[in-house]
Order: sequence, then structure tokens, then C-alpha cells
Amino acid sequence: MKQEYKVGIIGATGMVGQRFITLLYNHPWYKITALAASPRSAGKTYADAVGAKWAMDEDIPECVRDMIVMDASGDIEKIAAAVDFVFCAVDMKKDEIKALEEAYAKAECPVISNNSAHRHTPDVPMIIPEINDAHADIIPAQRKRLGTKRGFIAVKSNCSLQSYVPALHPLMKYGVTKVLATTYQAISGAGKTFETWPEMVDNIIPFIGGEEEKSEIEPLKIWGHIDGGRIVEATEPSITTQCIRVPVSNGHTAAVFVSFEKKPSVDDIKKAWAEFAGEPQRLELPHAPKQFIHYFEDDNRPQAKLDRMLEGGMAVSVGRLRPDTQYDYKFVCLSHNTLRGAAGGAVLMAELLTAKGYLD
Ligand SMILES: NC(=O)c1ccc[n+]([C@@H]2O[C@H](COP(=O)([O-])OP(=O)(O)OC[C@H]3O[C@@H](n4cnc5c(N)ncnc54)[C@H](OP(=O)(O)O)[C@@H]3O)[C@@H](O)[C@H]2O)c1
Repeated sequence: MKQEYKVGIIGATGMVGQRFITLLYNHPWYKITALAASPRSAGKTYADAVGAKWAMDEDIPECVRDMIVMDASGDIEKIAAAVDFVFCAVDMKKDEIKALEEAYAKAECPVISNNSAHRHTPDVPMIIPEINDAHADIIPAQRKRLGTKRGFIAVKSNCSLQSYVPALHPLMKYGVTKVLATTYQAISGAGKTFETWPEMVDNIIPFIGGEEEKSEIEPLKIWGHIDGGRIVEATEPSITTQCIRVPVSNGHTAAVFVSFEKKPSVDDIKKAWAEFAGEPQRLELPHAPKQFIHYFEDDNRPQAKLDRMLEGGMAVSVGRLRPDTQYDYKFVCLSHNTLRGAAGGAVLMAELLTAKGYLD
């Protein structure tokens, strides 16, 4: 590992981009050396470009306030020369994002992406660091396809599943057969606040475009395996979801029903959650929660407002585990959608890939 890695943020003015800034400006391994966004922002100072869109609790950090924002598409070579790798979270058309991320990778600049565009590219790993860190082993095959020495793309999964996939993963040893999950998703997941989306006050919207498909399909790639230079998706469990937008600023909640081949006891499940730890905990990565899954015995928990910031917003909280009449069990879980579910999860993935040597 190097002493310090220079990083760029593509989409720095957006909701996820702002989170990246708050997580990275004081990071022990990383230093922000480039910011980029659309041509609308390019050439302005970061403070001018982000303006009233700044939605974080803390002020814009001094080290980026006067940094000149670059053009994400027009300045690729310049940005690639100024950084060791980039984080990417942009609001563009899917095929444009695909091309943009490949252009960075081909400029020998690794891309840690929050976008969905490459999630189903077979040699692009989609990593939840505690669950499938081994999927990083696909990177040499991807580099071969792209013709690069350093450049590659690694992606995060959708924020909707960041609470229930971690809760289900340590139970896979009991043969999870069927999952039904209804998610109650915060408005920051759409890059919005109550000021910018007043229609959400006192309201629920029963549709989030594309979200149910992502919530059902992406877990199967995460639980897949590498074979012949590609990630082969798992065929089980069968997952059905409904994704609903609710008037919460941050924190996606999921109500989950699950059935097993070998039904565990309530105590078995709680023990599996309490003991669950992965590579981030073993390697003591800077953004790894000490305890990934926190179980609450109180029937009123987890609550978005009380529990989303657990372990800096990087832990998953679970409660209300009980038997069900149609499935074996049901429970409720919660994760912070722009921290664990977006920028924080991407920073943890970068830390994992740094520790594994892929960003040298
Ligand atoms: N919010 C979440 O919880 C969440 C979770 C997981 C994944 N994501 C994904 O992360 C991405 C960004 O989400 P967000 O919520 O941060 O969106 P957002 O707040 O709308 O921000 C979008 C960003 O993209 C930039 N952008 C727009 N058009 C561009 C162009 N033509 N070229 C370059 N940059 C352009 C914007 O720059 P300007 O300011 O210059 O327009 C801004 O920096 C999306 O793909 C989203 O699906 C979001």
C-alpha cells in the first residue's frame, strides 16, 4: 500500500457526491485532488457549483470549497492524470454512464461506481465488502478485456437491498429458499430533500422506477460465483419485492419475510447475526463498522431517525424477528441509504480494494 492515494469524485455536486466529500476530506488514506460534474458546473469553484444544493449537515470542507470543478466527460485525461482512482455517482443516461466509466478505466484510472450502468456487466464485480470480497478476483479478467494495466470498474449494488442482503447472508447456511421484502425508502435516495421535493411531505408514493427489478436481481449476482472470467449469478433464493417512497429524509427500511430449507431457531438466527463479520472487520478498514449487524430486542426498533447513524451510518440494524404464518420468519431491517447504501459503501469497497492491492 502507498502512504496516500489521490482520489477524484465524478458527480461531486450531487447528493452522493457531497457524501463522498464529507467521508473523504479527512480520510486517513485518501486525498481529494479532483472534482468533476456536468458542463453546467465545470469551471466554477466547488462552492459556486454546488450552491444551494449542498445538503449535508456540516459545512463544505475548506479543502474543496475553492477547488475548480472539471468536466466529467471533457477532462477525462486531465482527471486521470491527477488521481490514483475515482469515485463516480452521476445522473446521466445508462449508456452514457457505461461509456464514461469505461473511458476512465481505459485511461488507466480505476472507477469505484455508485451507478447502476455496469452492475450486470459479467466481469464487473458488484461488491458488498462483508459479503463477496472474493469477487474482486475477477478484476484481472476485466483488465484483460479492457486492455488495461491498472484501469477497471467495480460497482456498488442498489441502496434498497443494503439492509436485507446483509441480514440474509449469514443465514444462507440454512438454505434460504424464498424472500419477500417491502422497502420503505428515504427521499435522499432520489437525490432529494423536503425542500426540493415538498410533495413528499405527508405523502407516500408506491413506485420507484426500476427499483423492484434491481432489488430482486442484484442479490443473485452478489451471491454468485466466478467461473471462466465472469460472475455467474446464483439461482436461489427466489426474491420478490415492493419498493415504496416514504417521507423520511435518510434511511431505507425493509420488512422481510423468509423461508429456509433447514429452518433455524430464533436463537440460531440472532447468533448468526451477532457473529457475522467479514474482511472489512478482519482488516479493520477505516470505514468498517465494528459490529455489522445490530439486533434490537425492543419492538419499536429499528427506527430511521434513531438508528440510521449507527456506527457512522455503516452498520445495519435489525429488529422484530418472529415466526410467520406463511413464511418461516419475518423481521425488519434498516440501513442508511446514502452512507452504507451509497457513498459509505463505495468508500469501504475502495478501502477493501486498496488493502488487496488493486489500487496501487
Ligand atoms: N442518492 C442515493 O441514495 C443513491 C444511492 C445509490 C446510488 N445512487 C446513484 O448515484 C448516482 C447519483 O445519484 P445522486 O442522488 O447523487 O444524483 P444527483 O444528486 O442528481 O447528482 C447528480 C450528479 O451528476 C452530475 N451530472 C448530471 N449530468 C451530468 C453530465 N451530463 N455529465 C457529468 N455529470 C453530470 C451532476 O452534476 P451537476 O451538478 O453539474 O448537474 C451531479 O453532480 C445515480 O446513478 C444514482 O442512481 C444514488
